[in-house]
This record gives sequence, structure tokens and C-alpha cells, in this order.
Amino acid sequence: MPSPLIVALDVSSPEQALSLATQLAPVVGAVKVGSELFTSAGPDIVRRLRDAGVSVFLDLKFHDIPTTVAKAVAAATRLDVQMLTLHTSGGRQMMQAAVASAGETAARLGTTPPVVLGVTVLTSLDDQALAELGLGAGVGRHVERLAGLAASAQLPGLVCSPLELRALRAILPPTMQLITPGIRAAEDAPGDQKRTMSAREALTAGANALVIGRPICAAPNPRAAAEKILESLLP
Ligand code: C5P
Repeated sequence: MPSPLIVALDVSSPEQALSLATQLAPVVGAVKVGSELFTSAGPDIVRRLRDAGVSVFLDLKFHDIPTTVAKAVAAATRLDVQMLTLHTSGGRQMMQAAVASAGETAARLGTTPPVVLGVTVLTSLDDQALAELGLGAGVGRHVERLAGLAASAQLPGLVCSPLELRALRAILPPTMQLITPGIRAAEDAPGDQKRTMSAREALTAGANALVIGRPICAAPNPRAAAEKILESLLP
């Protein structure tokens, strides 16, 4: 079975990113390239990671009109990323345009389309922050609403908090992939993550893959830290 670990390359230099990715490649399923690394190192870092044989999760959280998002997804598909993100609050048409663009672009290239993952409510937002946006239903209800919309727009997966896994699994089609950050072992520093679960707990609660950054990248030996997490998943 492929590794369920996705390591977040939250660094700004391409050299650091490549060095982490190559040491971790044998034990992680993919690496996540987010806004910081992409904005400082550009699409070339994705090409270099792909050339090194590493699967890439491009986490740029697209949110724009459907045509623009479709073109951004086409560009990401040409970069041969394996997963990418968009904001489900961009609406049904935007999500459908993204999925169609990934499929059509990959078909033209003869490649596999990236898995388009939706972000529902950012975990940095609480009920009060949502109310300020005119969304009074509360985080839990709003997450479920956007997740249902994503499923009906045929999005293949979502990024969610580990604490949302059970409620989402109960309402979503079983084929929906759920990818979760916020993973910490009891002995890890939580950093700015407030609501965490261990890797094993999150997989048991229904996650398909886990995004982990600092517990691996900031460890004295990142490869050993990733292996320790994998060992914690053994029966
Ligand atoms: O270092 P840490 O394990 O907290 O990194 C988690 C990664 O997942 C970071 O790249 C962070 O931006 C991302 N993320 C998150 N919470 C979300 C969505 C993404 O922590 N709700």
C-alpha cells in the first residue's frame, strides 16, 4: 500500500525543498507545495520535483471565476501534479469547470488527471469569523454544506480538519477522498495547530492521507521522523 503521508514542504528555497523531498521520497506518498514555496521558487520547483520522481500536491487553493480556475487547473495538469486544491466556496460551476479541465487536459496529454481537492472552511476561521462574513450557521454546518456541494459537483476529495472526519464520512459518498492536516503525536509541539489528532487516530476516523509539515521537516532527522509515524500505523 502506498504511504498515506504527504509532507508539507513549507520552506522558501528550492534547494531546501528538493533536499527534503529526495530524502523523504521513499517513505511519503507525495510532497505538498504551497503558496510560500510556489511564490518564491515558481513552477520550476514542481518540474524539478517531478523530474526527481516525487508526486506533487499543489496546494494553491484556487478561488476565482470558473474560466480562470479551469485555466489554472490546466496549467497545473501540464506540470503533472498529482493533487491540487481549490476553495469549494467558489461554487458548483467553478468546481465542475476545474474537474472537467483536469480530465480534458490530462486526456490530451495522455497523463492521469490530478485529484482536485476542495477546501471548505479554513481551520483558522471560527463561528465568530464566519458570522462577520455573513455566514451565521456556524463552522460545522457550513463545512457540511460546502462538502455536500463539492460531492454533488463530482469533486473527488476534500481537505478537512481531523475533527471533521467522522461527520463528513457520515454524509459523503464513500469514494470521496479526505485529506487532513493538523496531525500531531502526543509528544509533538502543537505549534499553531489547535485541534489535532495523531496519525493513527485520523486514519481510523476516515482519512485517506495525512498532510504533515513541522513534525517531519523540523525534526533533526526528517526521514527518521516520517518512519516513526509510519511505524505508529502498524497494527
Ligand atoms: O507543520 P504542520 O504539520 O502544521 O503543517 C500542516 C500543513 O497543512 C501546512 O502546510 C498548512 O498550511 C496546511 N494546512 C493546515 N490546515 C488547513 C489546511 C492546510 O494546517 N486547514
